[in-house]
Amino acid sequence: MDQSEKNIFNLLKQATEFLTSHNITEAQLDAEVLLCGVLKIKRSNLAALRQETITQEQNQQYQDYLNKRITGEPVDYILGNSEFMGLTFKVNKNVLIPRPETELIVEQANKFIKENNFKQVLDLCTGSGAIAVSVAHYNDDVSVVASDISQKALEIAKENAVTNNVSKKIEFIESNMFSNIINKKFDIIISNPPYVTKKEYEGLERELFFEPKNAFLAGEDGLEFYKIIADNSAGYLNHKGVLLLELNANISLQIADLFSDFLFVKIIKDYSGLDRILIAQNG
Ligand SMILES: C[S@@+](CC[C@H](N)C(=O)[O-])C[C@H]1O[C@@H](n2cnc3c(N)ncnc32)[C@H](O)[C@@H]1O
Repeated sequence: MDQSEKNIFNLLKQATEFLTSHNITEAQLDAEVLLCGVLKIKRSNLAALRQETITQEQNQQYQDYLNKRITGEPVDYILGNSEFMGLTFKVNKNVLIPRPETELIVEQANKFIKENNFKQVLDLCTGSGAIAVSVAHYNDDVSVVASDISQKALEIAKENAVTNNVSKKIEFIESNMFSNIINKKFDIIISNPPYVTKKEYEGLERELFFEPKNAFLAGEDGLEFYKIIADNSAGYLNHKGVLLLELNANISLQIADLFSDFLFVKIIKDYSGLDRILIAQNG
C-alpha cells in the first residue's frame, strides 16, 4: 500500500467495506467512531484529518478494534466508554450500555426535582450509574442512593461517580431490589429495571448478548421487577413522592395496571412514539 492509500480517508473507506462485508449495519459510523477512539479525537474533527496518515501502532489498534467489531461486540464496549446525558461513562461487559431513550427518564426526573425541590433520590437497578450520576450532576441539592444486585456493576458505577465529580452525592448499596434499602424514604424513585420477556430475549440481536443477561431478563412475562416495584415503592416514597419507570413498550398497559393504587399514573412516549416512561405519584 503506498502512503496515499494509508491516509485516513482510505483507511475509513477500507474499514467501512470490511465492516459492511461482515453485516455490520452502521458500518461507516462505526468505522469512524472506532478510529476516533484510536486517535482520541472527537468525530467532528475527523473530516479535517482525512489526508493525514496514522502510525503503525495506531493502525494495529484500529485493526484490533475492527476485528472485535465483526464479532458483534458493541462499539462502546470496544472503546470502554459511552456517552449519556452529555457525560462520559466507563462501560464493560458487567454493565448495560446506557441507551439514548433512557435520557428521557433523567430529563423527567430533573423536571420533577427542580419543580418540587425534591432532595432524596433512589436509582434502583443503577448498572453503570448512568441515571444516578446524571441526576446528581444536573441537580445541586440532591442526595442519591444507587443500588444494584451486581457488585461488579456497582464498582463501575462508583468509578463513574468519581470521574463525573458526584461521588459525594451518591451512596451505593448492593441490594436485591429493595431488600438492603433499609430505613430510607425518597422523594423520587427512578428505575430502568430488567424488562425483557423470555420470548423477546431469545429473539434479541447478537450484539445484545455481549451485555449482562440479568440487565434484560425479567421472567417469562417481563413483569418480574415491575411487580416488585409496584408492591414496595409506595412504602419507600414520601407523601406526594414520584415514581419514574422506564417501560417495555410492548407490555406498557400491563405494567400500568400494576400501579393502579397510586394517586395517578401517566405514560409518556419516546421520540419514536413508543410508551417509554411511567410516572406514578404516591398519595
Ligand atoms: C436495564 S439495566 C439498567 C442499567 C442502568 N440503570 C441504565 O439505565 O442504563 C438493569 C439493571 O438491573 C440490575 N438487576 C438485575 N436484577 C436485579 C435485582 N434483583 N435487584 C437489583 N438490581 C438488579 C442489573 O444488574 C442491571 O444493572
